[in-house]
Amino acid sequence: MRLGISTLAMPMPVAKITVPPNSAAIEPWERKAIPATMSARQPARTLSMPKQNTKRANGEKTAKISKGNVTSRPLAAPDRPRLERIASSTGPTWTFGEIASLGQRAELDDVRLSYAPPPGAKLLRERIAQLHDVDPGEVLVMTGASECLLALTAHFAEPGASIVLSRPVYPALPVMARAWGLEVREYLLDARRGFAQTADGVLAAVDSSTRVVFVNSPHNPTGSVMSAAEQRKLAEALGARGIPLVVDEVYHPLYFTGPVPTATQLPNTIVLGDFAKALSIPGLRLGWLVDRDVRRREALIDLRSYFTISNSPLTEALAAHALGNAPTILARLEATASANLALLAEFMKRQKLLGWSPPAGGTTCFPWFADGRDARPFCETLAKAGVLVAPGDCFDMPAHMRVGFGAMRTGYAEALAIFGEALAKA
Ligand SMILES: Cc1ncc(COP(=O)(O)O)c(C=O)c1O
Repeated sequence: MRLGISTLAMPMPVAKITVPPNSAAIEPWERKAIPATMSARQPARTLSMPKQNTKRANGEKTAKISKGNVTSRPLAAPDRPRLERIASSTGPTWTFGEIASLGQRAELDDVRLSYAPPPGAKLLRERIAQLHDVDPGEVLVMTGASECLLALTAHFAEPGASIVLSRPVYPALPVMARAWGLEVREYLLDARRGFAQTADGVLAAVDSSTRVVFVNSPHNPTGSVMSAAEQRKLAEALGARGIPLVVDEVYHPLYFTGPVPTATQLPNTIVLGDFAKALSIPGLRLGWLVDRDVRRREALIDLRSYFTISNSPLTEALAAHALGNAPTILARLEATASANLALLAEFMKRQKLLGWSPPAGGTTCFPWFADGRDARPFCETLAKAGVLVAPGDCFDMPAHMRVGFGAMRTGYAEALAIFGEALAKA
């Protein structure tokens, strides 16, 4: 492992982190609060959810999240099934026993509980490389796609530099970018155009300060997909300007309107993947990036040696084991998401109050109140009835709500029925 972070041109993190409204709510909502607070086996408790409290400062939105603006409210009766997972952006999750019992589990028993190699275990890198048809040496395994985002935003930060990303976007990304001092430039995914992701739309946000461009396809929260042709056009146009493209593919290969190849074969492109979304094992906390640029890979490993040092060898071994059984895991996701999406499409046809654009991939979509009202009061009412959807203000688009359809293997029709009853009264 090469240490030398101090030799990198890395600015100090800014003291005050600027965040979009409720960005802090969205991931705890999915990952922490729900499993801890709502369960058929547990008595009802409360979920703390920061309320929207934003102000404009220097043209940017800031959110104050403090005791003073946090609401606590009961979410569900103790005997309710776990309908809350309609808010989730993952697939149907797995238990340790289920994963371990797929194929040979002997490989797990021999794991030595030391640090893992900083770029990730050899077998795991080989299996990830197979998914992307690349050399295992081009794969770096990190602590979730989150650490990939952290390392990449740190790597590209320098005084006066900017990053280009979509609006809406996975809320942690602009927060991390700003924390390292990057300016954020956005390209809009327009609901009226089906949240279309086009090369020209992205390029319009690029300027002389741009150091890196991010695309997320399939996209969280909209479910839109950038076609292979548009991805290539974008990668080549950016390459001509010396600007790397990052394609966040955590929902690859879940597509509903025809497959799209992984972007690893494109020039000038870094690809992100993880175990949380398409592979539906968020508890492993593992993600990866694929990058052909050897010097940048070294710099990224150097950076992560200051964040997490390495992953756990146990979770890496479990992940390699899971990838050896990827077809089984992906088939379960595909079956769950497709069945639920069919129900959701029928449901949406009947809704007068909502507009929506059917997702082309991933596990989420982003319907909106056609009259433009703030969706949060409705989402809070719906939560009281036991069904959570993520309010659009978490993505700085208050008329919308994020609805997931990948996580629930049972109970989705029931959740939609409650959703429909609440809409009828809205
Ligand atoms: C588009 C996108 N990228 C990255 C991440 C981070 O994923 P991980 O759980 O692997 O850290 C998420 C998580 O929701 C996401 O939606």
